[in-house]
Parts: sequence; C-alpha cells; structure tokens
Amino acid sequence: MTIPYPNTQPMPVIAAVTPPSGASRPRVTFLGTGYLGATYAICYAELGYEVLGYDVDPDKIAKLNAGEVPIHEPGLDELLRRNLAAGRLRFSTDIAETADFGDVHFICVGTPQRADGMGADLSYVEASVTSLAQHLTRKALIVGKSTVPVGTADWVEQLVSKHSPADLGVEVAWSPEFLQEGFAVDDVLRPNRIVVGVKSEWANGMLYAAHKGVFDLAATEDREVPLVVTDFATAELVKVAANAFLATKISFINAMAEVCEVAGGDVTQLARAIGYDPRIGNRFLQAGLGFGGACLPKDIRAFQARAQELGAGEALRFLHEVDLINLRRRTRVLHLAAELLNRRYGPAGPDLSGTRIAVLGATFKPNTDDVRDAPALAVAALLRKAGADVHVYDPQGIDNARRAVPELTYEPGMAEAVTDADLVCVLTEWADFRNADPTVLGELVAGRRVVDARNCLDSTLWTQAGWEYRGLGRP
Ligand SMILES: NC(=O)c1ccc[n+]([C@@H]2O[C@H](COP(=O)([O-])OP(=O)(O)OC[C@H]3O[C@@H](n4cnc5c(N)ncnc54)[C@H](O)[C@@H]3O)[C@@H](O)[C@H]2O)c1
Repeated sequence: MTIPYPNTQPMPVIAAVTPPSGASRPRVTFLGTGYLGATYAICYAELGYEVLGYDVDPDKIAKLNAGEVPIHEPGLDELLRRNLAAGRLRFSTDIAETADFGDVHFICVGTPQRADGMGADLSYVEASVTSLAQHLTRKALIVGKSTVPVGTADWVEQLVSKHSPADLGVEVAWSPEFLQEGFAVDDVLRPNRIVVGVKSEWANGMLYAAHKGVFDLAATEDREVPLVVTDFATAELVKVAANAFLATKISFINAMAEVCEVAGGDVTQLARAIGYDPRIGNRFLQAGLGFGGACLPKDIRAFQARAQELGAGEALRFLHEVDLINLRRRTRVLHLAAELLNRRYGPAGPDLSGTRIAVLGATFKPNTDDVRDAPALAVAALLRKAGADVHVYDPQGIDNARRAVPELTYEPGMAEAVTDADLVCVLTEWADFRNADPTVLGELVAGRRVVDARNCLDSTLWTQAGWEYRGLGRP
C-alpha cells in the first residue's frame, strides 16, 4: 500500500517490508554507545531485537560486553546482564562486523557545541556514517538519532551515496530522540511519541518494523504510542524546537525569580499559582539554578546558529536571552554566598578566601552521573575561584566531576563534605539532600548557613533547626 509522504497523521497504515539480512525482524545496530546509544541498545534487546552496539571507545565496549554499564542510569545494569546472557545483545569496535550485522543502523554519536562557535560539531556524525557506509555490502537503512542542525539528514544522504556502492540502494531516515537521563529506560521502552523523517515507503516500513517492539509493548499495557511520520527537515526541527521550548519555560520562571528577588515575592508560590492553569502547567516550572547537561544548552545555541545561517536568526533571538537568564542564576548563588558569609561583592565578584563551603551536587540533575555543562559544577568552580575552600559531594557524579574539574576537593559522603563548613550550597536536588536532617547536619557544620539553589529543601524545617536559609527567587 502506498502512503503519502510526508504523512503527519498519527498511526498511518504501514506496509510490511522484509529485512535485507533475511531475518524475521530487522537486526539493529547503535553506533555510539554513550548515554543515548547504550541505553537504546540494551532496551531494544529487552524488546526482543537482535542488537549490536558499536563504539570507537574500546574501554566502553569492553565494559559493556562484561555486563558493566559505563554510565549511571537506573535499571540499566540488570537489563544489560539479562540480554547479554540471552545472546540477543553484544558490543563491538569492529565496523565491518557492525555493517554486516545490521538492517537498521542508528547513529547515536555525540553532537557537542563546536569549539569555535555556537554551532554543532558534526565530525562524529561524519566519521561514523562514512566508515559505516564504506563497509556496507547490502541494502540497509541508516537512521540518525543524534540531535543535529536542520539539513543534516540531507547531507548524511550525500555522504552515504558518496561512500557506499550505488547498487546497494542504502537509504537514510531521521528519528530524533527525547529520552531524559534518569528516566531513560522507561523513556525508551515507553516513549510518549516516535517521530520519523523518511523519504520512501521502504524506509518507513523498516523503521516501523524496527519500532514494532515499542508499539507491541504499548498494546499489552493498553497504551498507544503516537507515531509522527514526516519529512527530514521537520523531524530534525522537532527535537530542537522541543528543547528550545523546555529551555524557555525554565528560563521564564527563572526570570520571574529575578523579579521576585527585587520585588520581595516568592517565586515558588508564584510558580505553583500559575502552574494550576492547565495552559501553563507546573512541569518544568521550578525556579532554581537552571538547566544544564549535554543537551539543552548546546541545542539552543546550535539552533540559533543554524537559524542564522538560514536567514531566520531573528526568529530565535529570544533564545539568546533564555541562555543569559539561565547563566545569570549561577552568579546569583555567588551573591547569596557572599551575603550569608558577610563578604563584600566587588566588581570582580566576592572574596571568599578563608571560608569553607560544602557543595552538595555536581551532576546537572539527580539520578545521573552526567556532569556535562552542569550548573552545580560550574558554581562550585566559581566559589573556588572566589577563594573558598570547596568540598563537593555527589551520590553518583564524583568520578566524572573529578575528571572535569580536578582542582576541587571531592568527599566520599555528605557528612564529610559539610563537616566544618561555613556554608552549605545545595546545587543538585538529589533525594539524599532533599531528605537530609538539618538538625543532624547542623551538628557538623561550623556555621548554619544554607543556599538552596534548587528550592528543594523545606525552608521552615531548616530555619527551625537554626539555619540561615536562602533560596533562589525567595524573600
Ligand atoms: N544524553 C541524552 O539524554 C540525550 C537525549 C536525547 C538526544 N541526545 C543526543 O544524542 C546524541 C548522543 O548523546 P550522548 O549523550 O549519548 O553522547 P555521549 O557522548 O554519551 O556518547 C557518544 C558516543 O559516541 C561515540 N563515538 C564517537 N565517535 C564515534 C564514531 N565515529 N563511531 C562510533 N561511535 C563514536 C563516543 O565514544 C561515545 O561513546 C547527541 O546528539 C545528543 O544531543 C542525547
């Protein structure tokens, strides 16, 4: 049956196609086994697919083959071991083996911010696609999952036709990814939508078959996963548009926090009150230290850079403000630290020398070990630069944090971090910190002063326990 392209109707009828390998279900590979690719490889094996994960990092691949997940992601370890044992899942650094194995190859490599500007660095996409294309010996579908500037899928198509024999008829599609670290297993097994950008009925059929496990699981749980089938450009834009919206929502409430700070309002109550309006909603509306991680900051910058190249820079100028509001929250913590420690805040920032500060949290959010562009770690570094003796504790992020910012002092536990501290800064809202007993911690510190940069503590409880408390956007 022919389906029109693009087709943006939910759940179009899709023709069945036979995988080129001859297997009954497409065999899938994931190129790049980082946060995205490792989670996908493991979860797709759990859905019953035969899976091969490929990476250029031999240590990562050795760990995965040994049943060790190289990242912290709740629930992933058990799934990895189960699916390795079942023989459905393996990992390799051999691109020829990867090319030979797969019917559908998902590109999951990093697309970080370029060192020389705001745009995305596509060198990993180029390297992975090129080497895969050079090793293909039969028809296959190459599907981009990495977050990329609009136009990348067309460029990947050109790379593929340049590096693979024309008679193989290798095709390209794009399927952006929306998983959230900390919830990644459930997000992959039970996504709230699947978006595919395709140019042919064959590609659409292969992608449908490669996602059928997700649709089948949903059916057994009496759910539906909406499928949006569209063109390349729209599929690429969906992801960056979603991240631009989320970043804007966070910066909106942080802008309100700035106004509350000068006007004497309480942004936590303001957010609760406006969030009751279902048109606004209360999710992603918590004022605090702002967004970070390997996605939102670089994605909104790359989106602006690409829009500028295409002549639509003005349309996204507001994202520059979104970025600035976000970054200003980091210096706000320094202001509060100076205020609580009775230090002057001069033109070069505060002088915090001679003080000891406990920083609780290093990751960009709880339930991950990811410290890439983490506001917590950035603030810890700023406090140290201001002269403070900074002691950091994080439940999962210490190893990555130590590699990223080696000059800070890292502690094995919360008690060690807060002992003798003149000030405690809660910078990531881990449950351990939210539920910490302020009376017990109060016995350990040199001074009961706390900056709650995530507005995640019970301010009444902490104040009653004798702490001088400061939140962001609160009186
Ligand atoms: N992490 C997330 O939560 C998330 C969510 C949605 C989308 N994304 C997007 O997914 C992409 C990957 O993100 P990530 O967080 O998994 O990155 P990551 O840095 O954790 O993983 C990237 C992996 O690619 C590997 N790699 C580099 N060059 C390679 C090559 N030539 N061939 C094969 N592998 C190669 C690296 O060794 C690394 O293991 C990015 O575009 C990101 O924006 C990430």
